[in-house]
Amino acid sequence: MRDTNQDTPSNALLGWYDRHARAMPWRVGPADRAAGILPDPYQVWLSEVMLQQTTVAAVRDYFLRFTARWPTVQALAAAPDDQVMGEWAGLGYYARARNLLKCARVVAGEHGGVFPDTYDALLQLPGIGPYTAAAISAIAFDRPETVLDGNVERVMARFYDIHDPLPGSKPVLKAKAAALTPDARPGDYAQAVMDLGATICTPKSPACGICPVRDPCQARAAGTQSDLPRKTPKKPKPTRYGHVYIAQSTDGALLLERRPDKGLLGGMLGWPGSDWSATPTEAPPFPADWQTLPGEVRHTFTHFHLILRIWTARLPNNTAPGGLIVMEKHAFRPGDLPTVMRKAHDLWRTR
Ligand code: ADE
Repeated sequence: MRDTNQDTPSNALLGWYDRHARAMPWRVGPADRAAGILPDPYQVWLSEVMLQQTTVAAVRDYFLRFTARWPTVQALAAAPDDQVMGEWAGLGYYARARNLLKCARVVAGEHGGVFPDTYDALLQLPGIGPYTAAAISAIAFDRPETVLDGNVERVMARFYDIHDPLPGSKPVLKAKAAALTPDARPGDYAQAVMDLGATICTPKSPACGICPVRDPCQARAAGTQSDLPRKTPKKPKPTRYGHVYIAQSTDGALLLERRPDKGLLGGMLGWPGSDWSATPTEAPPFPADWQTLPGEVRHTFTHFHLILRIWTARLPNNTAPGGLIVMEKHAFRPGDLPTVMRKAHDLWRTR
């Protein structure tokens, strides 16, 4: 039987998902779900927070490490902040990790360790916005909420041949997605649309020939699928510059700082440094014969590109400049650093 012989687009998608659902460590697949196995809301929540602005491939190992170390929301709620920030290092968007901990503590402290099961109640929790609330209520609790991520936006823009550009077209795309959402199996359906967008209805060269909804797809009929979704051009990102200072003592200890909770890389470990601006002021953490390393570190954040110059000096034994952390060699793990600070470390190590 051809997938497209199914009576409605949502049934065609569910039939396709039954055969082609991707395996993911947090996912209860369609066969297990049909057999009555329910996903663990903690795992669904954790994976959805991790998946915001990050790919499934990048999240997989982080998810497995988190759930091995903290198997329940109560365990995560009891974890020290710096350990959670350390495990999150490299995933980016560090405010998500701080909110993750806040949310775990509210669920453990005020909800008896049980996630609320409605969209409205989930939306009250720290770090849970409309996307995450809809995803958890659909996937964990099988409620017919409309889950709209980038994949789903693309699928809807094509299925209905919508040419208004994103982000302005979001409300229209959401209304279309809501109208397609079935009352039966909404959790599977939400994941089916996301999987379709990730594997078949891809941004470039969509594989329309094997798509379960190719017949009713309006962009496919009009031949416009590769032009959609249209996007309002973004402003080019400015470039900022900065200096970071890596100091090591003769016994291998390193000078680090814990960044303030508020702001970029908030709560993360990093090298002391200057402001990041068009014309940063050099700001060595203590007077020394600072030497600059050849090369520079480049990193792109959501709103700007950053170019860092790296300086090194010997850290005198038994000195701890105010407010900074002297970390013994055995306690230092480069993997605890956010990516930009990790890049500075790697440039220094390979100097
Ligand atoms: N992207 C975000 N959440 C997802 C999920 N549950 N399944 C597939 N892709 C996703």
